[in-house]
Amino acid sequence: MATKTAHAMPPLMSYSDRFQNAAAVESYEGREYGPGSYAATVWQGQLPVLERTLKAYRAAHGGPVRLLDFACGTGRVLAGLAPWVDAADGVDISEAMVAVARGKCPGARLAVGDILTRPDLLQKEYEVISCFRFLLNAEPALRGRVLRRLREVLRSPDGMLLVNVHGNARSLRHPALVWRRRRERSRPTGEMLNEMTAGEARKLLADNGFEVVNQQGYGMLPPSLHRTWLRPLVVAADRSLAGTHWWNRWSIDMLFICRPN
Ligand SMILES: C[S@@+](CC[C@H](N)C(=O)[O-])C[C@H]1O[C@@H](n2cnc3c(N)ncnc32)[C@H](O)[C@@H]1O
Repeated sequence: MATKTAHAMPPLMSYSDRFQNAAAVESYEGREYGPGSYAATVWQGQLPVLERTLKAYRAAHGGPVRLLDFACGTGRVLAGLAPWVDAADGVDISEAMVAVARGKCPGARLAVGDILTRPDLLQKEYEVISCFRFLLNAEPALRGRVLRRLREVLRSPDGMLLVNVHGNARSLRHPALVWRRRRERSRPTGEMLNEMTAGEARKLLADNGFEVVNQQGYGMLPPSLHRTWLRPLVVAADRSLAGTHWWNRWSIDMLFICRPN
């Protein structure tokens, strides 16, 4: 079932085409995840938590842990998680993105293609699947179809899905997005300005086979403050507020740890 996103802009191109060219890859690596960027700061907070989560899962699980990083892109998440699992696969629809991942993830099995039409791209079963920065900007129908396919290859009942939504509609980033959406309407640039609430994300997951067992949040303060002289204070405040607390339902980047339902 397609899930409606309350806060979305009509895209200029399909999400699957968006990262196919060299300029998009360069912008993702050099600007979005460039040194000191907002996204890189969020990731620095998430990585140690993911490491601990995987170590605990592996200790409890006993057997080998096979990881699939769906929409692996340039390998940021895959390179961070691969040391804590026994086998790591990454799959993405963009050859240009995966070309960068090959350099960062030498031990991983990387594949390029559409998991919805190519069953051969995936193994039969994974203990852990990660899916970062995909759900928010993928078209509503694609989100559900991908989640259902991932559900088919996630070990049941004890597999784990690690998935994030990097634009919470109920966060302090929202006012800036309203303004940028207005500007985008008069001067379209193709910027992605989607948002989703925690409730919408949970419903999307539940409708497509996943139960959220833990919700975490990263980044409470407006990202624009990271570009001011206040940055050191803002980074420290965001770091101390991150994690699993009642206020994290208003965090900008929501991380969900899920089990098959
Ligand atoms: C914003 S990037 C995120 C990359 C990586 N997960 C990360 O967090 O750094 C989104 C990725 O989704 C991939 N993508 C888009 N549509 C896809 C599809 N239908 N199947 C697989 N990957 C897709 C893009 O090629 C791109 O690499």
